[in-house]
Amino acid sequence: MKFFVDTADVSEIRSLAETGLLDGVTTNPSLIAKANRPMRDIIAEICDITPGPVSAEVTALDYDGMMREGEVLRKIASNVVIKLPLTEAGLRACKHMVNDGVMVNVTLCFSAVQALLAAKAGATFVSPFIGRLDDTGQDGMQLIADIMQIYKAYPHLKTEVLAASVRHPVHLLQCAKLGAHVATLPPSVIRALVKHPLTDKGLEGFMADWKKTGQSIL
Ligand code: G3P
Repeated sequence: MKFFVDTADVSEIRSLAETGLLDGVTTNPSLIAKANRPMRDIIAEICDITPGPVSAEVTALDYDGMMREGEVLRKIASNVVIKLPLTEAGLRACKHMVNDGVMVNVTLCFSAVQALLAAKAGATFVSPFIGRLDDTGQDGMQLIADIMQIYKAYPHLKTEVLAASVRHPVHLLQCAKLGAHVATLPPSVIRALVKHPLTDKGLEGFMADWKKTGQSIL
């Protein structure tokens, strides 16, 4: 399973990339706004840090605008993935960009039939939003299960399921059990995955006992 980080905070990305656990990065207009820096600089810096796919989202809502913005974004680096909304214009732009050899992430997916359309449009990734569905009282994880079932029924569909709007480690656990290809996680969730109180307690005990031996490995 691939782990992407969902942030436009370059220093966070740099620090997480050092762990060797990071396979890519996703951003969106809200995350770019939070970083409060020029988008092109942010995406270029992220692409320098990681060789993995880096999603950069268009802001145009019409097909021509999406194509024009996509042209600008794809020129930033070869690992840029153009992120397009799951709308008619977005699916049309997806088809054209993919035919032109560009990687595309179709975002804002909230139903399994939308995910089927993204796959038919040739998307490299589709991003179903788990947390935002949970927030409305729907079961975000059921959406991941439904998409995985549909994609498995049609093996010629090559789109990868990129679980997004992941809010906590249990979301990630459930996505992994369902075989989602990728999860994009906020930095805090990636760090939470590492932590276990018994790991900390065990380490404390080992260090205390080691100290008593008076030995040094070096
Ligand atoms: O980047 C898309 C998605 O991961 C956003 O998550 O937490 O804003 O619903 P969230």
